[in-house]
Order: sequence, then structure tokens, then C-alpha cells
Amino acid sequence: MSSAVPVIRSLSGLRVQVKAWRGATETVALVPTMGALHEGHLELVRLAKARCRRAVVSIFVNPAQFAPHEDFDRYPRDEAGDLAKLARLGCDLVWAPDRSVMYPDGFATRIVPAGAADGLESDFRPHFFGGVATVCCKLFTQVAPDIAVFGEKDYQQLRVVTQLARDLDLPLEIVGLPTVREADGLAMSSRNAYLSPDERKAAPMLIRVITDVADAAAKNADVAAAIAEGKAALAAAGFRVDYLEVRDAETLQPVAPGTQRPLRVLVAAWLGKTRLIDNVGVAAAARARP
Ligand code: PAJ
Repeated sequence: MSSAVPVIRSLSGLRVQVKAWRGATETVALVPTMGALHEGHLELVRLAKARCRRAVVSIFVNPAQFAPHEDFDRYPRDEAGDLAKLARLGCDLVWAPDRSVMYPDGFATRIVPAGAADGLESDFRPHFFGGVATVCCKLFTQVAPDIAVFGEKDYQQLRVVTQLARDLDLPLEIVGLPTVREADGLAMSSRNAYLSPDERKAAPMLIRVITDVADAAAKNADVAAAIAEGKAALAAAGFRVDYLEVRDAETLQPVAPGTQRPLRVLVAAWLGKTRLIDNVGVAAAARARP
């Protein structure tokens, strides 16, 4: 039997534990999450344990990254289930602050990311990356980890957090993990729980479409045509598309045709009331061919 994971909810308690680990020269990895953990989250924890002696998982549904009309209130929460999963992986500590600990009365400072945060998600969720960058900056300061592990599933978030750490000289390494998928290719996500059975059947069309666009980009084929076809296929499958784009994989800026920079295909689309996002890389080797 795995032993229970300590859950810490006060900043002073967290600092005592992390200081003890540091005194013993143990390395610390942080995995920031909003809970409702699935196999994708658990892979991040396994990577954290493989890279560092200690793994801290934070569970905090961050109100600052939800707009008033979004799903903060109905976002799935299952702390008991999360703790059981984390215990089996040897997670060393769960950092689960209350809202009043993270944002005490009088809290008034906000990080405003640009660069990788511009466009894509920000065109549809303008408040989002400010909320993510602010809470991640706080989590990094609170836990003081050597590394923080993020999923490529939220690719723009990974780039924004990497830029945040670099721009503010935060003393940690941001590590990315490839997207963990269901057997039919759908990227695992806490929000998949919102899908009706019919929507769940349609959902893997997302990965098919972005893979087709990535193949077209890899062959230097007509990317605009591939994107138009992809949008039509998604609409036919019942999706409402927010964006489907090929971008520079590092800066996330639009790219000129024929560029040899690494590329990423990113999509966000609605199925009914559920908004799904996904992305894939464009194979560089194929693009190098004439
Ligand atoms: P959340 O959606 O809970 O995701 C936590 C971490 O799990 C993120 O780094 C996300 O990219 C990763 N993740 C989710 N699904 C994944 C999958 N299928 N494969 C691999 N990794 C996956 O992202 C957030 O929370 C929040 O914005 C947070 C960073 C915690 C700040 O509040």
C-alpha cells in the first residue's frame, strides 16, 4: 500500500518542508495543476520524480484565469481521488492553498505577459495568460523548485511560462512533456468529462485535422488550403472553430511561407458547450527536402 501524501495548505507549512529538503540538498520538482487529475497529469508527476528527488504537485483552481462567463464554478474537482492517484506515484507533497491564501485581501499585482501570449488563446480568452502567469510566478516563488513540469497539451501556456521564467530570471528550468492521448488520439483533458457520448465520438476529428495540416506544412504543400479543408472537416463534424493555425513553434508568431523555423499547428474549437484545444509539431526533416 502506498502511504498518504501530505497535503499542505499554509505558506508557512510549505516553506518549512521545502527548506528541510533544501538543507538536505535534495532537488525539488513542481507540477502545477488544477486537479481532476488524469493520466496526462500523472505522466508529468512521473517525469518530475524521474528528474528530482522530491515532487510537489500543486492543486489550485485558479480564479484569475477564468472569465466571469467561463466554467470556474463547474470545473471538475476531486481532491480525494487526486490524492489517491498521487500517493501511488510517490508524490512527496500536495500544495493545495485556499483562494484566500493565494489571493489574500488586498492582492493587487498582476503579471502581463506578451510575446508568446499574443494571439491564439488570447484572442478568445484575453484574461487567460495574465492569470496563468501570475499564479505560476507565485507558485514558483512559494515552492522554489529546481524544475517545473508542464504539458505540451497547453502548448501556448508552455511557451508563455518558459518566457516568463526567462524574462524574470526565475531560477528554475521549465520542462515540457509531450501530450498524453486516449487510444483514439483525443488529448486527455479534465474538460473531456463535459462531452456527451456523441460529442466524445466526434472529438478525435481534432487530432486528425491538425495532423493533416502538419503533414501539408511538412511537405511544403498549400498550407492555407489544408487549413481551409481542416476547418470545413471540423464544421462538418459539429465543431465551431476558434482558430486553426500554423505558427513558429517557439515565438508562436505567424510564419512566412517556406520558413525553415520549427513549426507548430494549434487548434481550439467548441463541441457543444465544451472548448477543446490541441496542437502538434511539424516534422522538420520532411520540410528540409526540396
Ligand atoms: P491543468 O489544466 O490542470 O493542467 C496541468 C498541467 O497538466 C499543464 O501543464 C497541462 O499542460 C498538463 N496536461 C493536461 N493535459 C495533458 C495531457 N493530455 N498530456 C500532457 N500534459 C497534460 O494548465 C493548468 O492546469 C493551469 O493553467 C495551471 C498551469 C495549473 C495554472 O493554473
